Amino acid sequence: MKAALMTEFGAPLKIGDVPEPQVGADDVLVKVSACGVCYSDVKLWTGRSPVKPSLPHILGHEIAGTVAGIGPNATGLEKGDPVTVYLYDTCDQCAACRAGRDNHCIAMKPYPGSAGRPGGFAEYVSVPSKNALKVPAELDFSLASLLPDAFNTPYHAIVDLARVRFNETAMLMGIGGLAMGGLQILKLVGARVIAVSRTESKLEMARKFGADIAINSTKTDVVREVRRLTDGHGVDHVFDFVTTPQTLDQGVRSTRPGGKVVFLGYSEPIPLNIGTIRFISLTSSRNGTRQNLRDLIGLASAGKLKSQVTRTYGLDDATGALTALSKGEVTGRVVLRI
Ligand SMILES: NC(=O)c1ccc[n+]([C@@H]2O[C@H](COP(=O)([O-])OP(=O)(O)OC[C@H]3O[C@@H](n4cnc5c(N)ncnc54)[C@H](OP(=O)(O)O)[C@@H]3O)[C@@H](O)[C@H]2O)c1
Ligand SMILES: [Zn+2]
Ligand SMILES: [Zn+2]
Repeated sequence: MKAALMTEFGAPLKIGDVPEPQVGADDVLVKVSACGVCYSDVKLWTGRSPVKPSLPHILGHEIAGTVAGIGPNATGLEKGDPVTVYLYDTCDQCAACRAGRDNHCIAMKPYPGSAGRPGGFAEYVSVPSKNALKVPAELDFSLASLLPDAFNTPYHAIVDLARVRFNETAMLMGIGGLAMGGLQILKLVGARVIAVSRTESKLEMARKFGADIAINSTKTDVVREVRRLTDGHGVDHVFDFVTTPQTLDQGVRSTRPGGKVVFLGYSEPIPLNIGTIRFISLTSSRNGTRQNLRDLIGLASAGKLKSQVTRTYGLDDATGALTALSKGEVTGRVVLRI
């Protein structure tokens, strides 16, 4: 099969022919139709991720396609079924798994595209059958590919962790692929949304997708503006998709006493002065659960989610997609169509 192979950190991917993946007894083979490109792929590609894949490696964890092969123990799927792929290969036995907290499993195996398992920048990928969730045939594969991460990560943070309620005010920092998913979920739960970013086209897209207020952090003092907009109180929730010392500071100082800040982005160590964090809950969050993804498939099937994809690339130009994302040039999300 054809695949975009990472053979050197940060170097152009090489398009090559590699054997189709072995389909394990509990796995299904998915013929990839679309694979979203996430900033976490950029970190893996450039060697800045906490985990380093051994090379050659196939990136890509936002996968949608059709079932093309079925392992002997796999049940519930037929060849030709359109699916999207939940990320985590959970143990299903630890306390977190038994409680339905799949994303907290203490014994999960690597997810597709991360160190230790080939991903979706290829014609085929093998995934655990329990992670291949059926989607309606009418659902666009690009949108389906974003559900497991660009939507599921903010969904879990907004719905399960922060438990945002109708009429609360939430601030999104770093308007990229994930934040554009989060924005849609926040509008569905009836929140007032403040979008904060540095690039005008990203703020413009946020406005089009329903952001009530968009703040350009290079032109406006974020904390002062947020306080003005909230009668001096600050917002109820912050979702930080960047997490630098600067966004931490802006986020914390923009939050009302008793509010919540959820960190979804990660890059560098952040200094924390507990003395300045009065009564605020700070937490980080990782992806979501299988149930979250099922909820999102339901929402997408009902036409309640819009794709934030602004450009598609062929497999041959996967490097172009990664490069654009690494330079901050992507508005919304880009996907590979395979
Ligand atoms: N927690 C999880 O489970 C999980 C899952 C997936 C991804 N992630 C992480 O979440 C983050 C966002 O991912 P994504 O795919 O949405 O990325 P993305 O599309 O690149 O969006 C992030 C946006 O943040 C802004 N930004 C970037 N660097 C910044 C900086 N130094 N200061 C201020 N703003 C900055 C950029 O917009 P402007 O040009 O407007 O500044 C950028 O478009 C990444 O760190 C990714 O690794 C976490
Ligand atoms: Zn991701
Ligand atoms: Zn487990």
